[in-house]
Amino acid sequence: MTNLEKSLRKKGRRANSVAVIGAIFGDEGKGRITDELTDYFLKKYKKVIVYRDNGGSNAGHTISMNGKKIGLHQIGSGILHKGCVVVLGKGMAIHPIDLLDEIEEVKRVFEFQKLPAKLMIDEMAVLNLDTHRAFEFALKNRNQKTLGSQAATGRGISPSYADVIFRFPVRMRDLLSEDWRNILGEHYDLYKELIKGLSMDCSTLKVKRFNREDIQLGNKRKFLNNLEKTRDILREYVSPMYEYIRREWKSDTPFIFEKAQAIGLDSRWGVYPDVTASNCCLDGITFSTEGVIDAKDISARFGVIKSTYTSSVGKRQIPTFMEEKYAQVLRDDAHEYGTTTGRPRDIAYLDLEMLKYFCKVGCIEELVFTHMDIIYKRDVKVCVGYRRGKEKAYYRPDQKHLENVKAIYKKLKYWDKARLKTCKTYLDVQKEAKDFIQFISKETDTTPVMITYGPDRSDTILV
Ligand code: IMP
Repeated sequence: MTNLEKSLRKKGRRANSVAVIGAIFGDEGKGRITDELTDYFLKKYKKVIVYRDNGGSNAGHTISMNGKKIGLHQIGSGILHKGCVVVLGKGMAIHPIDLLDEIEEVKRVFEFQKLPAKLMIDEMAVLNLDTHRAFEFALKNRNQKTLGSQAATGRGISPSYADVIFRFPVRMRDLLSEDWRNILGEHYDLYKELIKGLSMDCSTLKVKRFNREDIQLGNKRKFLNNLEKTRDILREYVSPMYEYIRREWKSDTPFIFEKAQAIGLDSRWGVYPDVTASNCCLDGITFSTEGVIDAKDISARFGVIKSTYTSSVGKRQIPTFMEEKYAQVLRDDAHEYGTTTGRPRDIAYLDLEMLKYFCKVGCIEELVFTHMDIIYKRDVKVCVGYRRGKEKAYYRPDQKHLENVKAIYKKLKYWDKARLKTCKTYLDVQKEAKDFIQFISKETDTTPVMITYGPDRSDTILV
């Protein structure tokens, strides 16, 4: 029996449920793993649910099929499969216009008349609108010197979630209500005032859009007219999700929880302020499903990592930054440029001090090793601890602390990637690669479940 099969049937847990969690700074390959798990379950079951509980258009999950690929942002990565139900949950921040464009893009790229999977959106999901994007821009501009995150994706994610904390969120059901013009009109007026308070005129600000040129937010009428076009189409997808999820969770339908971003971007565990605003850990699922699913009942909790290195988009200083002469080669080989923003990603050595911490706070029990083919003819450097002066130091979610620690490295033997690519089962995998996997798993107290060595579905080995 594979570790994957064992992980899906742990004693006392809900069978066939798995969370796919970004274990470090995102972009580890969660989309592709979700797509493959969907395929895996559909070989045995008629239906599978892929549930997204956090984030929105800031995410970038790449999936591919028959040589074609797409970077998904808001749609769950089971979308290419007939028999899959993709649920966008309450915990998400959804941009309606970008979402409809993304649906059209999936159809165009893969030449579908209609989406193969069924798409369902929780009416309680928070709206992410052009107003949020304009406000984020104005705030970033205002805070240029000292305060705040300079690295946000520009998708207005944190203002959308801030609406909830301030207790004036606009939700999917508001957009579909009879009274929508008043509700969203009031929302526009509020943001106009907020932006004016930052000495800017919101109507002239430009905002980012999915696969398009930046567009001007415009006046209230333009803002509402743009949204009006989405209402009739969205009605088909939006509903209350509470009863549906309750029923399905009691059935034997497999569930894949596709988390967005990563534990190192969670505002509690990542390095402030370069963090995102949603809950990137397992417990976010309990919130998004309104407690229908207790995340502690989820059987498998996969943390996804890039095996031999870590990438980061943002302004954070990482104790294990790779020497730039190696980093640039790797960046080009592994195409380490942001899916959402196109920014070149920073490259660092794998940091076990940090990963151990993230596995603990993120409730990760298994590891998925992606990018096993990004390996060079030199030993693999892995950070196994920190020092501060002569003292042993630890990971803490504090940039100032991390700037003062020094990484201690261990070198592990490299493996031949050409040979790895010929392996069909874990038995075929060469000793050096297996030793690496065992070492990382032992240090992090996790079980290895999958390794990948290329972008195609067939480039995966179950451990
Ligand atoms: P925000 O989520 O747009 O507010 O961005 C906050 C931080 O999270 C920034 O450093 C972003 O680069 C980073 N971030 C947000 N989403 C992702 C993602 O999907 N992958 C990697 N980094 C992300």
